[in-house]
Amino acid sequence: MKNFEWLPETVRQLPRGAFLMVKGNPMTIGWGQFGVLWGRPTATVYVRHSRHTHSLLEDADTFTISVPAEGTMKAALAFCGTRSGRDFDKMKELGESLVPARFGAQDGFKGCARHIECRILHRSELDEHGIEDAALVDRYYANGDPHTAYVGEILGVWSEDE
Ligand SMILES: Cc1cc2nc3c(=O)[nH]c(=O)nc-3n(C[C@H](O)[C@H](O)[C@H](O)COP(=O)(O)O)c2cc1C
Repeated sequence: MKNFEWLPETVRQLPRGAFLMVKGNPMTIGWGQFGVLWGRPTATVYVRHSRHTHSLLEDADTFTISVPAEGTMKAALAFCGTRSGRDFDKMKELGESLVPARFGAQDGFKGCARHIECRILHRSELDEHGIEDAALVDRYYANGDPHTAYVGEILGVWSEDE
């Protein structure tokens, strides 16, 4: 993992999108945190209840974040951020393939710059309760559909050419 040396590039790309991989289904995410919790390196992702990925995570104990090289894979990010795995096998539709996990979490999206494999340590609800800024409640939770926050222990971070 080399002391989080992958972090700046990952956080620069994140708002443009990364793939949250669960059971072969890629879902585009734009939010996340990386740091230390309970003395362990962790990554936290946020998934709305309405997503197919949310159902997949109900019975998964790991996830993998596959991060494209900065500014790349725009079409795949747009597709995986608007289509649901309920209706499509997104990898098949895109003609893309998976790359096997190296640390026992989920297989990654082949061709990404980096794969961050995580084991879920904690799940909690991120809803309107406790948000101090009313504008955020209006913007994100006016219609319900809260996010579940998944804190994952980072098991390994790797590139395909390593
Ligand atoms: C750039 C971008 C970032 C997104 N970030 C998130 C996110 O962090 N959490 C989330 O629940 N949905 C996010 N979405 C929406 C999901 O990717 C989208 O609803 C997707 O179709 C859900 O796929 P699924 O039903 O296969 O899980 C984002 C979409 C885009 C385009």
